[in-house]
Amino acid sequence: MVNQLNSSGMIKAKIIGTGSFLPERVLSNQDLEKMVETSDEWIVTRTGIKERRLALPEEYTSHMGANAARKAIESAGILVDQIDFIIVATITPDFVFPSTACLIQKQIGARFVPSMDIQAACTGFLYAISIAKSFVESGTYKNILVIASEKLSSITNYEDRSTCVLFGDGAGACVVSGTGKGLLIEHVTLGSDGEQAELLMMPAGGSRRPASIETVSQKEHYIKMAGNEVFKHAVRRMESACKECIEAAGSSEDQITYLIPHQANLRIIDAIAKRFEHLPSDRIFKTVHKYGNTSASSIGIALDELYRTYIVQPSDQILLTAFGGGLTWGAALLKGTI
Ligand code: ACO
Repeated sequence: MVNQLNSSGMIKAKIIGTGSFLPERVLSNQDLEKMVETSDEWIVTRTGIKERRLALPEEYTSHMGANAARKAIESAGILVDQIDFIIVATITPDFVFPSTACLIQKQIGARFVPSMDIQAACTGFLYAISIAKSFVESGTYKNILVIASEKLSSITNYEDRSTCVLFGDGAGACVVSGTGKGLLIEHVTLGSDGEQAELLMMPAGGSRRPASIETVSQKEHYIKMAGNEVFKHAVRRMESACKECIEAAGSSEDQITYLIPHQANLRIIDAIAKRFEHLPSDRIFKTVHKYGNTSASSIGIALDELYRTYIVQPSDQILLTAFGGGLTWGAALLKGTI
């Protein structure tokens, strides 16, 4: 198949199919009340989360990612043999190496195509889409499989009430291509600030602090987060990323028909939604109440739910935005096509 060109003769990257996978096991706020000193009322008021999914031991990151990938390939109407690059965004890889992307390449039976992981915490899906867009539009690859998969329960301390109520497991995926019908990736804006790295991190298990009896006994292999500080940065950065992205795409806030923000906290989503006052609340896509924060996967899962339940119109403009550890942030403007 030949890549489609726009009026200026350039290839334009599109999302031509989406998929997601959520483990069946549910961890409700009532379950958490039995594990730590918390309450359904506190969790719902402060975060909007009612329940989240927890993967079984055999549902590791590559397994969830492969399931989401198969659905995305099917939704794109292509064969797995047509995939020519695989990118996986995750902070919870099966192993430090080999990459989770290589493991998924085997599980879905893809050809011996290049496969790699990238890491931008909760912004990972947007970073991966941006890389895929560049490869497609440069003519290097035709059909790129983008996957975000997270088993956050493997790095969550279920004795720490300030974090364990927030996170869930799951995977989202899409196929980015220069051919076929789908959502045009009009523009992606990305950013980072390593100065704030310590606000949200897993302190041990890397080369700076390799795993030892001491790191395990001090519970350094779990997510550590300065929640309050992260909250402020999240609102500020996602708001400005949305604004920059809309401007760079030559669009305007009143042309946005759907907003899919990172699903970390309902209060953060509401703060960003204030910028889009013309949007009815059902046009601000939310999954946080049922899945919690699934890090890189959150936007991929939400996009798949939207794509399967709503017929995208050519005039639609869908704005994705995310924020996460690093700190990292970004936004992407997608446009409906005929
Ligand atoms: N149940 C009951 N009480 C709790 C709980 C809990 N689960 N957790 C904290 N508290 C208590 C605290 O101990 C504190 O008590 P104190 O006042 O007696 O000291 C009180 O509640 C308030 O705590 P705060 O941390 O100030 O609560 P806040 O309103 O900021 O909510 C939260 C905390 C939900 C973590 C919020 O700050 C948040 O959502 N932050 C952003 C997280 C985020 O966006 N992450 C994105 C990236 S994630 C990634 O990249 C992996």
